[in-house]
Amino acid sequence: MALLAPPPAAPGDPPFTARDFDRIAAFAYREFGLSLQESKKDLVYSRLVRRLRALRLSGFQPYCDLLEGPEGRAEHDAVVSALTTNVTHFFREPHHFDLLAALAVKPRLQALRAGERLRIWSAGCSAGMEPYSIAMTLLDALPEAAQLNIRILATDVDPAILARAREARFTDEEVRPIPARMKPWALVPAGEGRHGIAPKPARMVRFAGLNLMQDWPVRGPFDAIFCRNVAIYFDKPTQARLWQRFAGLLAPGGLLFIGHSERLGGPAEAAFASVGITAYRKTGTSAGRKETA
Ligand SMILES: C[S@@+](CC[C@H](N)C(=O)[O-])C[C@H]1O[C@@H](n2cnc3c(N)ncnc32)[C@H](O)[C@@H]1O
Repeated sequence: MALLAPPPAAPGDPPFTARDFDRIAAFAYREFGLSLQESKKDLVYSRLVRRLRALRLSGFQPYCDLLEGPEGRAEHDAVVSALTTNVTHFFREPHHFDLLAALAVKPRLQALRAGERLRIWSAGCSAGMEPYSIAMTLLDALPEAAQLNIRILATDVDPAILARAREARFTDEEVRPIPARMKPWALVPAGEGRHGIAPKPARMVRFAGLNLMQDWPVRGPFDAIFCRNVAIYFDKPTQARLWQRFAGLLAPGGLLFIGHSERLGGPAEAAFASVGITAYRKTGTSAGRKETA
């Protein structure tokens, strides 16, 4: 096993051996599917050394022992938080929201008004901008959407970011990408110059903790799944399994949206047809679903 190059340590910071890195990498892969290459060792060091300080641990060896032991459960969340980024924006990759409205909502207006169900999953939703953008898109196309059989499930593995998503207090800068025509009914003042989400879009979104590497206590089928800028952390076999599991949960004709730098791969590729940039439709007919213009 090659020794890692010396980390960019401050005087007094604990050393980070190859064995420490291997243990952290194995843990992150096993628990969260995160694929940490050795090139990320400095990043891993700088993110986790803060945890050592916070926990007043003397080195990475006791830290790894903690993670792997029965007392370490609470620290698992801190690791996934430290090793992934929560970067997100309202209406990120806006073409996905245009496609959602054009393919999943507008052709079904009459059926949805008559009570047909529409289910959307934002998997890896971070601070909530993605699922709230979905809710705004649905309300823009169908103003009574909040009273209909329409739900958005928003999940993330990181409890801290889910707490922020539920709190829903956004800065001027953060709400800037929301289309101007939506802002009057989508946002409410939330004090101290912040913006909250208005009751209608807020009511359509349900947040829950979910680790994509574990069982999914979710009920499909979904009409659309957004899993964007999450699979970048996973290796190809893990990604392939993820796409396959999404394919199994999507209704025929259901949509899958992935991140701009992600690619569908593995056996699931055959189950999808491209409908736009990093946007896919599950092939097969939407059996029993009456589509009306
Ligand atoms: C960069 S954010 C993407 C947010 C949003 N989907 C977007 O594209 O704007 C990645 C999110 O994936 C979550 N994540 C990472 N690994 C995960 C896992 N194993 N299960 C569920 N969520 C995970 C992180 O907590 C983070 O909030």
